[in-house]
Amino acid sequence: MSLSGKNILLGVTGGVAAYKAAELCRLLRKTGASVRVAMTEAACRFVTPLTFQALSGKPVLTTMWDGSEGDGMAHIHATRDVDWILVAPASADFLAKLAHGRGDDLLSTLCLARSVPLLVAPAMNQAMWSAAPTQRNLAQLQADGVRVLGPAVGEQACGETGLGRMLEPAELVAELRATAAPRVLAGRRVLVTAGPTFEPIDPVRGLTNRSSGKMGYAVAAAARDAGAEVCLVSGPTCLAAPSGVRRVDVETAAEMRSAVLAELPADVFIAVAAVADYRVETVAAHKLKKSAAGLHLDLAPNPDILAEVAARADAPFCVGFAAETENLLAHAEAKREHKKLPLLVANLAQDTFGLESAELILLDAAGSHLLPRADKTTQARALIRHIASHLN
Ligand code: C5P
Repeated sequence: MSLSGKNILLGVTGGVAAYKAAELCRLLRKTGASVRVAMTEAACRFVTPLTFQALSGKPVLTTMWDGSEGDGMAHIHATRDVDWILVAPASADFLAKLAHGRGDDLLSTLCLARSVPLLVAPAMNQAMWSAAPTQRNLAQLQADGVRVLGPAVGEQACGETGLGRMLEPAELVAELRATAAPRVLAGRRVLVTAGPTFEPIDPVRGLTNRSSGKMGYAVAAAARDAGAEVCLVSGPTCLAAPSGVRRVDVETAAEMRSAVLAELPADVFIAVAAVADYRVETVAAHKLKKSAAGLHLDLAPNPDILAEVAARADAPFCVGFAAETENLLAHAEAKREHKKLPLLVANLAQDTFGLESAELILLDAAGSHLLPRADKTTQARALIRHIASHLN
């Protein structure tokens, strides 16, 4: 997807990653976008406006008090002819300003005065990222509809390692491209399950599995990017809900089933969750005591949520995921037939669970289609395109 014809306001705030924003500006122009850069005072201490002027081919906006532009309303005009504002890097201080609606410099005022989507790519030290005020500000920004891109884990300029590194320029361009992609699920309601379930044994213990939820969350984000209204029913994970996606938190398979049924009808149901097949029949009211005699637990089968939804008269287009450790295709095809699914996504559990990437095989009535190993965001977008081709 080219960004040709798109107008982007690139905001640069004060952080070492400002040097990467220069490369980002160059890449955006290479994809055909027109870029106008606005820098905070601190950003100008890291990279000079002249660098961005040369790369964008336009004068750089740096101050509210430059009366040279017509009526002196640069903070309003500069946001009116753009498709997006992308702030990269977005410092912890700048996120705090945005979350509180402050407008004490040109870039924060541009963001406040905008009528277009705002995307931010945070970059900061890992401790600043995990600090409670930063996380509070991020939650507020996401609730306000701001898209947060990244950050990534890695080595930081300060010598520490952790979460807080800005996404690479090429990754940010890919995010913008996805945002600009055709909205193939516009007007559709998509329901996604993700993560593991947790089946209690007693008040402190339970049965669960190694699902991280990453694939399901990526599928929910891809459906949102494709224009769908998305509800994500999630088992326990440590992931943040993608902005613009409504998340319903559950623990057990029974809770997941109730939450899913309450969200119907939908146009598409994508069951990515690794639902426990069994639950403990009688959950102990108090913590079980250890005994030399060992422990016997009676397990009762859980309802199959996907099969139940697929069997309904008002069934959405149902997509299942099958994680197998052997005989992948045979098991997956049997599952697709048994659950009566138009589409099933097969993968090897040991190649997928907890990892950032996956190799997927899409099985439908037309046969099988391989999606070679790629990151889960890329796979999720390909899956959504495939689902849309079935619907349309
Ligand atoms: O039968 P199996 O668990 O391998 O099937 C996997 C697919 O079925 C996944 O899409 C999973 O989310 C869904 N499933 C479900 N309810 C269950 C078990 C699996 O929705 N109890």
